Amino acid sequence: MANQKKIIVGNWKMNLNLHEASLYLHKLSGMVKAHRDVEVVLAPTILTLQSLSLQVNWRQFKLAAQNFYWRDHGSFTGEVSASQLRGIVQYALVGHSERRHIFNENDKDIRNKVAAAIRNNIRPILCIGETAWERASGETNDVLHDQLIGGLSNITSEELDQVVIAYEPVWSVGMNQIAKPDDVVAAAKTIRRQLEHLYGPAAADAVQVIYGGSVTSDAAAAYLALPGIDGLLIGGASLDAHEFNEIVKKAHNSSLLIKEG
Ligand code: PGA
Repeated sequence: MANQKKIIVGNWKMNLNLHEASLYLHKLSGMVKAHRDVEVVLAPTILTLQSLSLQVNWRQFKLAAQNFYWRDHGSFTGEVSASQLRGIVQYALVGHSERRHIFNENDKDIRNKVAAAIRNNIRPILCIGETAWERASGETNDVLHDQLIGGLSNITSEELDQVVIAYEPVWSVGMNQIAKPDDVVAAAKTIRRQLEHLYGPAAADAVQVIYGGSVTSDAAAAYLALPGIDGLLIGGASLDAHEFNEIVKKAHNSSLLIKEG
């Protein structure tokens, strides 16, 4: 929605150890300016979250978990729950394509995670998107529809404004292959239409829909200017401080343009 803040999320994936992550945050802190119209969210590995939460300036950055388990506690060896992340992160990625396709997360896992995040005061960033094969077969809209319904079925219309939807075509994530702007606009429209169908126009309009997949600072401004796109989810380019800072600057400029226009 145009009058909301833009969201720029940096997904560091399984990169940077504790020391490197702390140095990198320090570097970003010196470069990235806090803007009232841009929410900058960093998603480092779970190992580093607690110590980065003590280092971070909350006015400048928010933190996100890349993953978590949906139950609050219990005998789940190796897992970390949303209730344990409460107070450390403000956001969490849910259903990232690498979780769906490498770790076989299904819609049931994903909808339980969306609900667990909300229950624990964490905004879920629900990632949805089609594979190359699904796009080639003309199934993109059906996939978006199914993944939205699958991910949100535990969520009420009052809770919906806590959810961010990230449209991330699987064939683009980490592939240096960017989506055509028209296709991104079409996907965002499909997503909002479906949300409207499920929750009504007001609730659907309030949801932030962001785009992700091989976005660099060169392409960022064009995506940020697209109707219905409220921010970006950045993987590879978020590990380059200069690139990431440029992307945040473009998000700030794009909301200035919206205000002026
Ligand atoms: P990418 O990753 O920017 O490297 O394609 C996007 C993501 O992880 O969501």
